[in-house]
Amino acid sequence: MCGIVGYTGYAHAANILLDGLERLEYRGYDSAGICVSDGNAGHPLKAIRVKGRLQALRDLTDNGSSVEGTSGIGHTRWATHGEPTVENAHPHLSGGRVAVVHNGIIENYMELRETLKARGYTFQSETDTETIAHLLDYYDKGDPLDAIVRTVMHLRGSFALGILFSDRPGEVYGVRRDSPLIAASSENGNFIASDVPAILQYTRNVTYLDNMEIVCLKPDGISFYNMDGEPIEKTFTTVSWDVEAAEKGGYAHFMLKEIHEQPKAMEDTIRPHIRDGQIVLEELGMTEDEIRSINRIQMVACGSAWHVCMTAKYVMERLAKVPVDVDLASEFRYRNPVLSPGTMLMVVSQSGETADSLAALRYGKDQGMLCLAIVNVVGSSIAREADRVFYTSAGPEIAVATTKAYSTQLAACYMLALHFARVRGTMDEEAYAKHVEALTRLPGQIGEILQGEARMQWLAGKYANTRDAFFIGRGLDYASVLEGALKLKEISYIHAEAYAAGELKHGTISLIEKGSMVLAVATQKDLLEKEVSNIVEVHARGATVLALTMDGNYAMEDEADFTVYIPRTEDVFYPSLVVVPLQLLAYYVSLSRGIDVDKPRNLAKSVTVE
Ligand code: F6R
Repeated sequence: MCGIVGYTGYAHAANILLDGLERLEYRGYDSAGICVSDGNAGHPLKAIRVKGRLQALRDLTDNGSSVEGTSGIGHTRWATHGEPTVENAHPHLSGGRVAVVHNGIIENYMELRETLKARGYTFQSETDTETIAHLLDYYDKGDPLDAIVRTVMHLRGSFALGILFSDRPGEVYGVRRDSPLIAASSENGNFIASDVPAILQYTRNVTYLDNMEIVCLKPDGISFYNMDGEPIEKTFTTVSWDVEAAEKGGYAHFMLKEIHEQPKAMEDTIRPHIRDGQIVLEELGMTEDEIRSINRIQMVACGSAWHVCMTAKYVMERLAKVPVDVDLASEFRYRNPVLSPGTMLMVVSQSGETADSLAALRYGKDQGMLCLAIVNVVGSSIAREADRVFYTSAGPEIAVATTKAYSTQLAACYMLALHFARVRGTMDEEAYAKHVEALTRLPGQIGEILQGEARMQWLAGKYANTRDAFFIGRGLDYASVLEGALKLKEISYIHAEAYAAGELKHGTISLIEKGSMVLAVATQKDLLEKEVSNIVEVHARGATVLALTMDGNYAMEDEADFTVYIPRTEDVFYPSLVVVPLQLLAYYVSLSRGIDVDKPRNLAKSVTVE
């Protein structure tokens, strides 16, 4: 995830910025840069930027000491708009008068870009951020606060900004909406940062900016303003976290932090694609004719991403009426699949580097298939080689077990299914509108589920010593339990298997005995009665049943030992809600078994070998 540091004071700024950025390295990044004011009003600002590691920036600047000046901003970038290149790295400048670093996503940057081009601005990068630099320049008539207010009024989306104006040496500005920004003070100068670890080595005295608050740092003080340009008071607190706790945002593990980041990751993935109640996928570059010409979809992926494909199959077939086949990437590449003309290959991958998924993509391309990839890492191998790319906006995922990337992959599939359904005319307007509206509610509903975390922790205590767990579900719930079982087994080392509930009586039910743990997911209206029958079957054989079902389905309490309720949504979207309690359950079971949750044995985050 991108990182921001800003400093002004009495010390050499470049050193402080580089040290601060180094403390944010753990978050993942692909390029970095700094901009330091030389202290002379009106001197053009210059950015020093590199692709790759911070060390390259250190090498270029003699560890910062070749850059004169005592105020500046720095950034580590995790690419979203445009590949990881020097041109796309931050800070972005407007004619040397304004420099900006940015975390977040500007949804209307395409429109803003066109407006600014018409005003004579030229663009050096593909980023959404450069529009902010030019907007600030356009509105800067000598009053930085006014320029910032006018600029942010034109931005749709999320942002935390660090800003320098060439005619205001010694001043650093910041502003935020839906992306975190802190300000911190020390005797030696003042700071802004996206995250606490960046400043911990200099000060523990911090304040957290609220949405639409502006901060102005000067060497001898910090001022805060609201959007009317009026001064406001902020309370500073002393951070007691050590560096390790600070990196995890105060959570005990990255996995828990990433579980909690899901509402934001979903919002960031969904919101930029919704305009006036419609799904807009212009960045995908697929024409309506192309979408209509697809008569079959072949999906491939590994692990959790394969579970996303299993969900997508149900959703795409139900909404867009396109037949979908799903293969494990490691199987697809060797089974000599028969691929009919008009079949589109879809590859789903967080890292974009998974060896089997990449090989499957190459196989499909060799067969002349149109290849669409859903990828989280911009510029990764799969993203580069696919014909069309849908980027998820999960940000970097550090825990080995995927959570937020999985959720955003689901969101991408929902949007593709809805878009295809509209273009192919397979959904009436009313149903389409209802689904788009329900989609936008998912991030908030995930937030609601997270508030029930304590109950999942309590339930995890009951499951912590179990030897085997059986996860059952029907239809889309079957796809969800595949993920639930994998989450539990990979981080708790408990043997867990997922079954389509209707399959139990064809063999597996012989394993069910007194004390067996069964997790049943039951959210699909049309399959509810049948799923309840399966729950009754296992209960009658002595299993302890934990059921996950939708709010109001209280009848479930008659059949299950424990019931967890999740908010109501459209049937096709339940997988996004169901997965959250399942993630929490796996996390807390792992925790109570004393396992290294973020780094379970034998597993790597990205599997780049066969
Ligand atoms: C499970 C998990 C893995 C990945 C799989 C694919 O929690 O993280 O199963 O989903 O290795 O990885 P990507 O999505 O990077 O291709």
